[in-house]
Amino acid sequence: MSKPIVLTGITTSGTPHLGNYVGAIRPAINASRSSELDSFFFLADYHAIVKTSDSKRIAQSTLEIASAWIALGLDCNTVTFYRQSDIPEITELAWILNTIAAKGLLNRAHAYKSAVQNNLSIDEDGDAGISMGLFSYPVLMAADILMFNASLVPVGKDQIQHIEMARDIAQRFNHLYETLFEIPTAQVDDKSSVLTGLDGRKMSKSYNNIIPLFCSEKQLKKYINKIKTNLLEPGQPKDPDESAVFEIWSAFASDADTESMRVAFKEGIGWGDAKNKLFNLVNHELVESRERYFDLIQKPEVVEDLLIEGSKKARPIAQENIKKIRHAVGLKELTEQ
Ligand code: TRP
Repeated sequence: MSKPIVLTGITTSGTPHLGNYVGAIRPAINASRSSELDSFFFLADYHAIVKTSDSKRIAQSTLEIASAWIALGLDCNTVTFYRQSDIPEITELAWILNTIAAKGLLNRAHAYKSAVQNNLSIDEDGDAGISMGLFSYPVLMAADILMFNASLVPVGKDQIQHIEMARDIAQRFNHLYETLFEIPTAQVDDKSSVLTGLDGRKMSKSYNNIIPLFCSEKQLKKYINKIKTNLLEPGQPKDPDESAVFEIWSAFASDADTESMRVAFKEGIGWGDAKNKLFNLVNHELVESRERYFDLIQKPEVVEDLLIEGSKKARPIAQENIKKIRHAVGLKELTEQ
């Protein structure tokens, strides 16, 4: 029996930040050390081109994200780590899935709906500036997942709906044609899946409020000092559950240290003091990987080789599966029955 597959993708349109690390990278790398599961992680560059037409940024982000995962200890020998666009069978599957995915299902996708709402709120045509790529983004995601028959898909809360759509599409295919697809399940880590950004909103490159995962120590300190707080003075009790400083602290600290920081907040720790402690904690966790990261960024050929090796593991699986899928839908040689 082969092991259950855990699979997740990272869109290559930005610079890795602390929120990505806590919500996705760290749990994924930890899970990949389990011998119970087979891990597939990939750079979702087909998805990235939906988000931006800045081609330099796509290439730079691909290098940064791949380097970050490797620097943080991803073992490319045990994990299948690849670039989505090295597996063109995924786009072929996406097309086949497009033929069975209900348009009505995709009309309900949050990302599409909120883009339409934004347009309407400024008296624009609802679909202004919305590409078919954005509209069928969840179908491409379903293809990523179903191509490898993943059973577990670790994602942030904002992606749960997409996994539900992948389930729906898989069931529909299995019912219409042949039971070829495993029905995937979303895996969401509730404790720390979303981190708050500098301005108090969810940390996200689209809000421009991120703390980069890898920058110099000096810069990291500067970013942490910029986290929004309130005007309470040292000595005045502070509410840990209302504070991004505390939230990031608990994403990095042990349970015991989280508890003592909670007490310190109630006892009125000063913001400067709390931020200093936070810097030391985060810096300590990242200091070694940071060095490896900046080294890898200088050696794209090393990273490229690892990705090519990864696609050599992933592509034969995709090729074998797409053969069965084509066959099931009737794309086959005339001599075949
Ligand atoms: N859309 C996901 C995100 O923005 C990235 C992604 C692409 C993905 N394909 C996937 C995640 C397949 C899980 C499985 O976070």
